Amino acid sequence: IAYSHTYQRSSFLLFFCTFALFLLFLSVWPRLGTANTHLKLFNEQLYELIYDGRLPILMVTDLEMIKAIMVKECYSTFTNRRETNAGLAGPFADGITVVKDERWKRIRSSLSPYFTSGRLKEIFPIAVTHADRFIKNMQKRDHEQPVKVKEVVAPYSLDVVTSSSFSVDIDSINNADDPFVTNVKKFFKFSLFSPLILILTLFPSVANLLGKMGISLFSRSSVDFFYNVLRKIKDEHNKESNGRVDFLKLMIQNQIPDEKFEDTSDQPVKGLTDHEILSQSFVFILGGYETTSTTLTYLLYNLATNPDCLEKLVVEIDTNFPSDTPITYDALMKMDYLEMAINESMRLLPTAPRLERVCKKTVELNGVTIPKDTLVGIPTYVLCHDPQLWESPDEFRPERFSPESKSEMNQYGFMPFGLGPRNCIGMRFAQMIMKLLVLKLLQNFSMETCKETQIPLELNAIFQPKVPITLKFIPRSCKAKE
Ligand code: HEM
Repeated sequence: IAYSHTYQRSSFLLFFCTFALFLLFLSVWPRLGTANTHLKLFNEQLYELIYDGRLPILMVTDLEMIKAIMVKECYSTFTNRRETNAGLAGPFADGITVVKDERWKRIRSSLSPYFTSGRLKEIFPIAVTHADRFIKNMQKRDHEQPVKVKEVVAPYSLDVVTSSSFSVDIDSINNADDPFVTNVKKFFKFSLFSPLILILTLFPSVANLLGKMGISLFSRSSVDFFYNVLRKIKDEHNKESNGRVDFLKLMIQNQIPDEKFEDTSDQPVKGLTDHEILSQSFVFILGGYETTSTTLTYLLYNLATNPDCLEKLVVEIDTNFPSDTPITYDALMKMDYLEMAINESMRLLPTAPRLERVCKKTVELNGVTIPKDTLVGIPTYVLCHDPQLWESPDEFRPERFSPESKSEMNQYGFMPFGLGPRNCIGMRFAQMIMKLLVLKLLQNFSMETCKETQIPLELNAIFQPKVPITLKFIPRSCKAKE
């Protein structure tokens, strides 16, 4: 009888807690910052307070305020992103995206030299090798079958990022089951409804406790896998030189002793500790892989669903690169329509729908007082769809970004790579590898929608397509015969 009482009491307690959680969730759900709530909230206002679960965020749409936050006051007031609990961030805690103030400045200035146009030119032949491999793989496919676009472009992004960063050729285009590839994928299996995300949304203050309990947002086994692989690669780099310059080598050349990594204002100007080197390598793989492949997928979708724009791009490609013309970095960067199409696709479907900065001290911007510690959000998706900034904002019109029209555009309404000193460090690298892939693809294939293509595209609450983007790719040689 005693056992049955205890059992009933604990069942009741469990039921009560689940019910209370459910009610709490219902109460915050309408306040979650999804695309639609954003769009409804901003009607000619400079700012609006919204909630990520229970965490308040000051969403700013005033372009003057945005300029101050992202650029003018970046170093003095808006240097950092939201506080990430060190325990929950796991080994990412010293990654460039997370670190703050002086430590961020040191890491950023140590990594920036990797992304000069001189370095990109050095990396370019590596990207060409992987783009050729991608084309060969596409040619082997049954061309009657529709293709899930992200599944084929993602391995290309991963291969270029890993080989240019570490001189390691994982060839995920041909080895989808390679542990490196499967572990990267595991990282992005992120669900808004995962128990951990729910708990953090409802009770942001428990992050510290979870961190101390050793609970991390990321799969431990994948984290361990990557750190082991990166450690091995780093040790190999220390031992021998194959003459190739890569990102890891650059970091190793600037390695500093471990004791210098504390979060103090007294930081060396440059250099990374051993663990920081591993973390930045990790950030590069993850940052480069997901963003680039998503952006490419959206671009191909937008082109396929706007055949007149696709046609213009094909004409530009055929004019500038008739068959057998070698592709050079400089010539690729001069492809105006390609650049316009990429920009327009990133406007229509920005990969990062929102940017964030924490306000370090109370400031007044454009007559609005922002108190210290306020989390400020810049809703890039909303800005990119604002009819006051863009005519017919839901239409794909690359001409908006033509050299003539671009001068009239307000740059604070278009920030697919962020803006100011803390913008995307890999922007030019990403643009290079995306341009190269589209060029090679359209040189070799015609692209079409098919019955599996969802038109119009629907996004879920975390801005991802509800249905995988699917298209048909037919070799141009076959098309010419028809
Ligand atoms: C199309 C591809 C990409 C897109 C759309 C993209 C977008 C972004 C955005 C929106 C941010 C935040 C900027 C801000 O807060 O102002 C960011 C930051 C960052 N991105 Fe990218 N990114 C892309 C590719 C890459 C690649 C290829 C790399 C590395 C190889 C990379 C590395 C980073 C890093 C390290 C940061 C943090 C910078 C810092 O905190 O100082 N990204 N990216």
